Amino acid sequence: MSGAIILGIESSCDETAAAVVRSGEQVISNVVASQFATHQPYGGVVPELASREHLRAIVHVVRQALAEAHHTYDSVDAIAVTQGPGLAGALLVGISYAKALAFALDKPLIAVNHIEGHIHAVLLDLSQNDLSPNDLARNDRQKGHRELQFPVLALVVSGGHTHLYLAARQDSFWTYENIGHTRDDAAGEAFDKVAKLLGLGYPGGPVIDRLAPHGDPKAIKFPPAQIKHRDRRGRNDGKAAAPDRHYSEADHPRFDFSYSGIKTAILRYVETHDMRAAVDARRKALLNIAKPKLEDYLAHCDQLTLDLVASFQRAIVDDLVGKTLTAARAYDVATLFVTGGVAANSELRRTFEREGGKQGLPVYFPSRPLSTDNAAMIAAAAYPKFLLKDFAAMDFSAEAGLQLR
Ligand code: KG4
Ligand code: ZN
Repeated sequence: MSGAIILGIESSCDETAAAVVRSGEQVISNVVASQFATHQPYGGVVPELASREHLRAIVHVVRQALAEAHHTYDSVDAIAVTQGPGLAGALLVGISYAKALAFALDKPLIAVNHIEGHIHAVLLDLSQNDLSPNDLARNDRQKGHRELQFPVLALVVSGGHTHLYLAARQDSFWTYENIGHTRDDAAGEAFDKVAKLLGLGYPGGPVIDRLAPHGDPKAIKFPPAQIKHRDRRGRNDGKAAAPDRHYSEADHPRFDFSYSGIKTAILRYVETHDMRAAVDARRKALLNIAKPKLEDYLAHCDQLTLDLVASFQRAIVDDLVGKTLTAARAYDVATLFVTGGVAANSELRRTFEREGGKQGLPVYFPSRPLSTDNAAMIAAAAYPKFLLKDFAAMDFSAEAGLQLR
């Protein structure tokens, strides 16, 4: 059924989302209810509050997605929902609702890995009206994705993940091999924590993205993270290798990331440069502005803070791009996907396009609205499973630590 219509539901973190997608690539509607206002005063996501907000929003969000798509509960072919990874309580809200719908409507239910969703977001075309000129150009470049060249190397870089996957496809069946992940903080988490410790609010990525062009990215040097990779014969500390699935599979090179060091370096910088009082003043001032604009942020940032922000962003971007392109060469991939919330970052996109271009490697991103969490990507990742009739049993449950294999 090539025109299959899938209703996607996503509730893994702090966005309640529903979308209607045709054939895994055409977004007919895409509704995202952000819980930003709920979590903002706490400077991060509060899991209990997230579950409560999902409960409040889910029925309305799904109805709106169907209405905007001119579809009804009856006219969709399947219901797809995020199984994990994510916050267990938050996931359960989406899963319970999707199960209830599938049962009542007698429709197939498809369980989707959130990370696989981010990867499939790259294949989605938004309605032309929702696209910026940059995204329109991207859509034109990516239109021929059915002729996508494999293997694909996918960098999933978000608030919860900094993971590299090799992806292959046979007929409709996608397989993934993880060849790298963060050893500590995810890149998006580093953006959020650094923004918080500079008094810039939550979430940090979009604010840092907008402020960075106003600072000097060369002002402050951060040493690259030193990561020891175990070699094939044993651990790098000389002890016997523990039985570990990744490791026993890994006569393949690995490309891990680490971002907790740079966060600590910035904390130390703030302390040694007596920035603490200015940070507190900024935090208070910005809390009093309902929706701060770029001018508000700039009015409350001195040049040193802007230089710190720009240097931080440059260090993260250089690390992500450098490691990913080294991995792309090592595995001789044909195509690169860069996806997840941090893939919305302007400097990251620019640098990947420039450096990928130098290697003759096509780099594909989702449009910016589909880089961050949404349900269209869940419906997109469900489509190959729909074709394979890979449906979920009614007793499947949320898996907070679900892996992608
Ligand atoms: O994919 P996502 O919406 O949720 C997770 O699965 O984690 O990613 C959210 C993350 C947050 O850490 C946020 O700060 C970051 O993506 N982010 C950005 C940008 N927009 C969102 N980071 C850098 N630049 C951006 N423009
Ligand atoms: Zn995500």
